[in-house]
Amino acid sequence: MGRKNKLQKFQDLKAYPNVIENPEYESNQLFINEDVEIDLSENWAQIHFGNDKPVILELACGRGEYTLQLGRYFPEKNFIGIDVKGARIWQGATIALDENLSNVAFLRSRIEKLGIYFRKGDISEIWITFPDPFLNPTQAKHRLTSPHFLEIYKQIMVPNGIINLKTDDDLLFAYTLKVVESDPHINLLYAENDIYSKPLIDPTLEFKTYYEGMHLEEGKKIKYVKFQLKD
Ligand SMILES: C[S@@+](CC[C@H](N)C(=O)[O-])C[C@H]1O[C@@H](n2cnc3c(N)ncnc32)[C@H](O)[C@@H]1O
Repeated sequence: MGRKNKLQKFQDLKAYPNVIENPEYESNQLFINEDVEIDLSENWAQIHFGNDKPVILELACGRGEYTLQLGRYFPEKNFIGIDVKGARIWQGATIALDENLSNVAFLRSRIEKLGIYFRKGDISEIWITFPDPFLNPTQAKHRLTSPHFLEIYKQIMVPNGIINLKTDDDLLFAYTLKVVESDPHINLLYAENDIYSKPLIDPTLEFKTYYEGMHLEEGKKIKYVKFQLKD
């Protein structure tokens, strides 16, 4: 893939047909393909992929390993990896282009803005892979499974949409279970605090991200929670 510095990667992203960017936090504008602005009043995800297949998001996707692996495994579904860091997204977007993965795209934006970019029913499933755990209790609302974020996800998902969390972090695992179990509008489908200690309930759990690889090397246990936002 060659060595490129951050500025070269940012330049590449502007021309990549599989990367949509929100370059300025203060504005909600999204751009693709050398500054072509996306019309937010349209179902742009559908227009982007040119089909009616389900759209699945990976939040905090980093280099996009999970998005890529899901995209290869499920050619009948569309995947969008979302992260705020362009140099990380560049890795996944470059591989997706090299492999002609037409069902994979990346959105460089803050996750807080998903309610602006998608409409109710646009998203069928969400994966949250190794997000920052925000250990300080005063920062709990920044955790991607906090009630604040679940409300945003509810705004854009199909009825009874599924959310998957993979984490190495004990506190985030326990916190997520507490949030899920204390909300009568959420169905807990599965929770396991050491997924590799037994046969995997789903082959896609075998997929690994960059951070998961690091956590496994450190001997950490990988946790998984799957739940459903009831409508
Ligand atoms: C610990 S890394 C995990 C990356 C990847 N999922 C993995 O497992 O290798 C967390 C990622 O979340 C992204 N991130 C954190 N807060 C975010 C936010 N509010 N909106 C978008 N991305 C965010 C960071 O840029 C970072 O790439």
